[in-house]
Amino acid sequence: MPNSKTERITVKASGKYDVLIGRGLLSECGEYIKEVSGAEKIGLITDDNVNALYGDEVQTSLESAGFSVCRFVFPHGEQSKTTGTLVKIWNFLCENKFSRSDCLAALGGGVTGDMTGFAAATYLRGIDFVQIPTTLLAQVDSSVGGKTAVDLAGGKNLVGAFKQPKLVLCDTDTLETLPEEFFTDGMGEVVKHGMIKSAKLFEKLESYTTETLRKDKNALDDIIAQNVSIKRDVVQADEFDTGERMLLNFGHTLGHSIEQYYNYTGITHGQAVAAGMKMITDIAEKHMLAEKGTCERLVKCLDGYGLNVSVEPTLEQLGSACMNDKKRFGGTINIVICCDVGASMIRKMPVESFFAMLSEASE
Ligand code: NAD
Ligand code: GLY
Repeated sequence: MPNSKTERITVKASGKYDVLIGRGLLSECGEYIKEVSGAEKIGLITDDNVNALYGDEVQTSLESAGFSVCRFVFPHGEQSKTTGTLVKIWNFLCENKFSRSDCLAALGGGVTGDMTGFAAATYLRGIDFVQIPTTLLAQVDSSVGGKTAVDLAGGKNLVGAFKQPKLVLCDTDTLETLPEEFFTDGMGEVVKHGMIKSAKLFEKLESYTTETLRKDKNALDDIIAQNVSIKRDVVQADEFDTGERMLLNFGHTLGHSIEQYYNYTGITHGQAVAAGMKMITDIAEKHMLAEKGTCERLVKCLDGYGLNVSVEPTLEQLGSACMNDKKRFGGTINIVICCDVGASMIRKMPVESFFAMLSEASE
């Protein structure tokens, strides 16, 4: 059973599952997973970095709970999130005779979670999986909500499925080994959640910086739990991303164009989204769509977490890249605007009007 400091947040989507947030959960993961799975075998999927840090601890816990464990380790990084690695995972499951009643466990960051989830969605037309996220981004965002995918040469996350996990175990102790670069990246999504849904969370974030937050473990756990609650609410309202879930794309339309401009090297996703959030909020303020001072607060808060908002490309240059955005439907595009800290809306507008807005703002 979870210790008293473990937070339990239940997600009611097409599948109902708990997200547990606490310390020391890795060493107890076998018992937790046993509560949600009758599997004989667990396919433990992880990258080489995370495997070296936590693979043995997790395998020991799973075996102590009576599971037989087959471990698949792949090289870390986005470059592994491909159909090539996916085929290797499918073959690994087949060679180890995984049946429909067995289960996968994704131990790692968003790359591991997305790819394992997609393997679980597709192998034998679907088997169970659990998420054991070990990056801040995966704990506050990617492990919750059931979006799974791999990348294609033509773009990120282009092949995927919605597949909810049976359980999410966020052991926040694992963040102690997370390099600062990846902590910063996750903070981009944390600030985004505050901006779109919670002035209370945003105010708490304003009172910390990366340095002070990483030292205050209780505050960090609380912030992670607040993020999971926000994500839970959004996913419950719109699991399949046709309405409210698009709010999670705040800063991402321009952010994706920024990443594309830099050819996905030299800028992290978090930095690109931070710049995208700043740009769109600045424009919204100029068009009287956002309270005065919203952008200044956003930029100051991002700065505290090492999220720099200055980028090379102009708004006009970014406009054309937005044409390829997944959020564009025919001649219209859905833009997420924060009218104030903690308050957001989706504005559907003709692509031409969005271009005009960007061009006007870059004058
Ligand atoms: P990642 O999985 O590549 O992890 C980042 C790095 O941290 C890796 O090198 C990994 O080995 C290392 N690492 C992980 N945990 C560690 C730990 N505790 N200690 C030390 N090192 C550790 O990347 P990420 O930033 O976690 O996730 C990015 C991915 O998430 C992208 O592919 C993105 O598309 C996806 N994503 C998915 C969703 C969704 O809803 N499914 C949402 C946001 C992002
Ligand atoms: N991270 C975006 C989503 O889950 O919809």
